[in-house]
Amino acid sequence: MTHSSSTQAIPHIPLVPRHIEVIMDGNGRWATKRFLPRVAGHVKGVEMVRGIVEACASRGVEFLTLFAFSSENWRRPADEVSFLMKLFVSALEREVAKMHANSIRLKVVGDLSRFDPKLQKMIADAERKTAGNTRLTVTICANYGGRWDVLQAVNKMTAANPSATPYTEEQLAPYLSMAYAPEPDLFIRTGGEQRVSNFLLWQLAYAELYFTDTFWPDFDAAALDLAIASYQQRERRFGRTSAQLVEHKKAS
Ligand code: IPE
Ligand code: IPE
Ligand code: MG
Repeated sequence: MTHSSSTQAIPHIPLVPRHIEVIMDGNGRWATKRFLPRVAGHVKGVEMVRGIVEACASRGVEFLTLFAFSSENWRRPADEVSFLMKLFVSALEREVAKMHANSIRLKVVGDLSRFDPKLQKMIADAERKTAGNTRLTVTICANYGGRWDVLQAVNKMTAANPSATPYTEEQLAPYLSMAYAPEPDLFIRTGGEQRVSNFLLWQLAYAELYFTDTFWPDFDAAALDLAIASYQQRERRFGRTSAQLVEHKKAS
């Protein structure tokens, strides 16, 4: 099933964001501030994920999407990259059974071909095991880049329909790597930077943006609630006027 597009129609505007996506930034600076090695921030960052997953599930969020490793993060020092890969493996080993017990579906999106085959198999197994769970879908974006996503979708779309030009949004949508999820309602970036860093570029079209100086290892359920409260103050207009939005709400 493909979800409605925010550039084609006014989507359902939920009180609690249905889909939250997070750039979990600031692990390194959190550690450096404490005179710890950067990787200590990554360890603490992974620990924080469990609490946020639980908090989202209990607040009725349906999709939580976490940026864990970007297509540009390979350019970091080799020892930091290999530490992050080991951390990914150990987190999967530890958490998948718990997620499954809590009825959470796990998805991993990105160019997975660059990962160790053992890690690729663990990901496929975890996705298969949790595929039927419906409480919350957690997506980990790993070796993900927004430009990669659009390009891989265009390549698949044109291969499947070589002569169907000019292509439409509807034709592209099913090939995007997160076609199974509605567009994000709320985008959160921790760590103080106010940029998108090649995250979900296409899907961000009408997401509400929230930036906080809190480093990811300090981002707890109370911090999440502040972000949701900020989202609830916004008027999402999708290019329309305020009066049109009021009419639309009455009619729906
Ligand atoms: C985010 O924290 C985690 C990853 C990108 C893997 P950083 O490692 O970017 O932390 P800062 O931004 O250097 O503090
Ligand atoms: C974005 O953070 C990627 C992740 C959190 C995984 P970065 O730390 O890589 O982003 P920049 O380099 O500050 O833009
Ligand atoms: Mg960073």
